[in-house]
Amino acid sequence: MSLSEAQSSVAGTKRPVTMEKLVNLCKRRGFVFPSSDIYGGLGSTFDYGPLGIELKRNVKEAWWRDMVQRRSDVLGLDAAILMHPRTWEASGHLQSFTDPLVDCKKCKQRFRADHITGDRCPECGGELTEARRFNLMFKTFMGPVEDEASTVYLRPETAQGIFVNFDNIVDTQRVKLPFGVAQIGKSFRNEITPGNFIFRTREFEQMEMEFFVRPNAEEEERWFNFWVEFRYNWFLKYGVARDHLRMRPHGAEELSHYSRGTTDLEFLYPFGWGELEGIAKRGSYDLDQHAKYSGRDLTYFDDETKERFRPWVIEPALGVDRAMLAFMLEAYDEDVVENEERIVMRFDARLAPIKVAVFPLLRKGGQPEKAQAVREELQRYFPVAYDQAGSIGRRYRRQDEIGTPFGVTIDHQTMDDDTVTLRDRDSTQQERIPIARLASEISARIGWHR
Ligand code: GAP
Repeated sequence: MSLSEAQSSVAGTKRPVTMEKLVNLCKRRGFVFPSSDIYGGLGSTFDYGPLGIELKRNVKEAWWRDMVQRRSDVLGLDAAILMHPRTWEASGHLQSFTDPLVDCKKCKQRFRADHITGDRCPECGGELTEARRFNLMFKTFMGPVEDEASTVYLRPETAQGIFVNFDNIVDTQRVKLPFGVAQIGKSFRNEITPGNFIFRTREFEQMEMEFFVRPNAEEEERWFNFWVEFRYNWFLKYGVARDHLRMRPHGAEELSHYSRGTTDLEFLYPFGWGELEGIAKRGSYDLDQHAKYSGRDLTYFDDETKERFRPWVIEPALGVDRAMLAFMLEAYDEDVVENEERIVMRFDARLAPIKVAVFPLLRKGGQPEKAQAVREELQRYFPVAYDQAGSIGRRYRRQDEIGTPFGVTIDHQTMDDDTVTLRDRDSTQQERIPIARLASEISARIGWHR
């Protein structure tokens, strides 16, 4: 048993997945490719292939549906990645968004000072420099002149786009506290130690929501607990097992510079427990800072109490890529069907990249033409795969491996009575149903409404 296999069975349920198996599957089937692959890849950046992009869109849509569209107290926003550089002075990121770094004087490698033990280089045993603070923000220049005045940053979190739009939202949307503003978008961090595939990368996507509440400890506690529980249940809803997910409150020494209290939702990765999502109490830190740096008031007028104040904030913040990693690790399974081993990705049907695959049993007797017609009809509703190459068993297996929840087979009986078999990925059970009922039956089984 390899180390990662041993670690993957840490929890109560034993999982067959390892990082290596998942990375291979992702490359082989077109979920995730190394970025700039033909040039040997670019350190810890990845491209999402045809199946990866479908999964990614489904994860973002699931989050947006549950966090924005199904709630009457949360609105959406899409702010620019490039922001006024004063933003990062105000937010504290210029000053505090740093990691302590040491350099080896001999081999010139860099390490996070808090990740090494002892005072010698872990690679070559050379002497190390004093620790220095290293800012994680990527810098670039805006316009043709490359000087300090034209320096801008790629945002390291989406959250600030929401805070700088606080007045715009309050002035235009007739919102009442408590209310939230959510957004999904790219963030960039020049991480010193990226790694573990798409777990920690330098370019990634975040789904964040800033939930504004009345500024008192009772409201803060109530909504903090609400969102921790809501977010925990969200992962269960889309298939994460309870014993692979836990809540971990931060100790005072590990809190971010803006946080008054944070609880992480941790997932059991094959390399051990690690952060999946963070829920933080940001208080009025960000609005206070932006008020100070912009000269704008950024207060809210409470109609009920006739008071003006800056609300406090509860923030659930999740990485899209990290959520995908967790859902893929959770979905990965191996079993035996009709004496043949298969890999099966047991995605929740709402997250699965392809919802249904259509197969003619034989490549004759009008079956391929009929199957193409069924594919066309179903494609009006769902992403569909069509496969007529190889034995039917192999074709099922190919779809199981990418997590397609339903398979439709056209056979000789179809040519007589317009019925097909509908196969379920997990149970492998098949049922005969009329073509006319296929789309509504599959739609009901996907369970969009849940
Ligand atoms: N606005 C708060 C914030 O950004 P964070 O804990 O630094 O908090 C939130 O990030 C989430 O974003 C993390 O829980 C993780 O899911 C994701 N994330 C952060 N850094 C990441 C990275 N380098 N690569 C991939 N995902 C990352």
